[in-house]
Formats: sequence, C-alpha cells, structure tokens
Amino acid sequence: MERKLVVGNWKMNGDRVRNSALLDQLVGAMPAAVDCAVCVPFPYLPQVGESLVGSGVALGAQDVSEFPEGAYTGDVSVAMLADWGVRFVIVGHSERRAMHGESDLTVARKAAAALDGGLVPIACFGETLVERESGVTELVLLRQLDALAANLSPEALQGIVLAYEPVWAIGTGRAATAEQVQTVLALVRRWLADHVPAPERVRILYGGSVKPETAGGLFSLPDADGGLIGGASLDAQSFLEICQAAGSAAQGN
Ligand code: PGA
Repeated sequence: MERKLVVGNWKMNGDRVRNSALLDQLVGAMPAAVDCAVCVPFPYLPQVGESLVGSGVALGAQDVSEFPEGAYTGDVSVAMLADWGVRFVIVGHSERRAMHGESDLTVARKAAAALDGGLVPIACFGETLVERESGVTELVLLRQLDALAANLSPEALQGIVLAYEPVWAIGTGRAATAEQVQTVLALVRRWLADHVPAPERVRILYGGSVKPETAGGLFSLPDADGGLIGGASLDAQSFLEICQAAGSAAQGN
C-alpha cells in the first residue's frame, strides 16, 4: 500500500473550545502524502465535520450499532453517521470489548453493518498482556480475525481496515517493539491471503502508544500501512509529526 493511513482516536476527550483549538492547528497543516482521519465523540461529529471540509482529513466515529434502527437506547446507527459525513468508524476497540463486553461476533456484525452502509470499519484486535505471556497471542488474534471472516464475504472483507492494538500497549507508554509488531502484521497478511482477493490492498494499522519518536520506525515495517493514534492525537504538534513520519515512511517503501 503506497499511501499510509493515520487515524486519531480522540476517545472520550475534548469539548467545543478545545476541539476548535486542535482543529485550527491541524487543518491546513496536514501533509498531503498521507491519508488522515480523526475519530471523535458522537456529539462533536457536526462540529468537527464542518471544520474538516476541504481539509483532506476524513471524519470518523468510535463505535456504531450493528442494528439499522429502532429500540436501541443510546446507540447510533451507520445511517446516522453517514448522515454527518462520517467515512471511518472504529469497531471492536479493546476498551469497548473490555468495558462494554463486546464479543468477537458483535464486533464482526458492526463491521458488516458499517460496510453495508458505505462506511469503512477500522476493526481493532489485539492480545492482553496475560495472553501474550502465556503464549496464546497468535491463537487469540486469529480467533478475533476469524470472526470477521465468518461474518463478511471476501469482497466485503476486502474493504475493511484492520488495526492491531496489543492491549498492554494502549495508553501505557509502552509501545510494542518493531519486531513484535512486524511478526503480528506478517501473520495478519498471511491470514488475509486466505480470506480476500487482494491481501496487499487491505490496510493494517498498528496502535498502542505511538509517539512522534517511534512512528517512523513502526510505519516503515514491511506490513505496516499506518497507525491508530490515541493520546498523541490530542496534541496537534505530535499528531502532525506522526502524520509526517507516515508520509516519509511511504516514500521510503
Ligand atoms: P494510545 O491509544 O495511542 O493512547 O496508546 C491507542 C488506541 O487506543 O487506539
């Protein structure tokens, strides 16, 4: 994949004033050689969407319902997101899996609903520290990925973005090493070869404590197509530097 994709995940942060200050610094400063998006809390989709018009930065959300409409209090549908110009939606983030009990099946259904409605799901998967230390990383990752393949046709799966986020690296300041990341990304690329028509065209992102200092090395890995950035996406300078690192990594590939 020639162009890298860098996605900011704002999580449950921000307010209208802080969003506007952050966006003022981002819009117009984004490197043209990178595809960028920010996934923001639901209430701020209109505000952020309006600020991003013409900026080349795409609008994203952090979750979506697997159902089209109806009696699902508190949930937000794919059509509602599309109505606000959303292009990307994160599904299966480990915080939702852990705190909201989302299963592999729910995550796969959300991905399917997003694809059906014309959005690009960024499907997160990753192992916990206990799983890594007990040697079941590969098993866990393949279980999470297989759930996607079981609920999506190969053609639909081709349109997904995958994000490898080891749970122990999220928000901890402890990013996975380049070797750990590439080992998993290569596994995922091989898995894709068995499940989609054009495996090299599915973007695989890495997420978990990516910082400006580590971004270049991570994005230059043979199977890395970009990153999902949490904490560092809330700081304009850091996010811009990470996007620039992705642009340079793409040119180096
Ligand atoms: P982090 O979060 O960059 O703050 O570790 C990444 C994520 O949760 O997507």
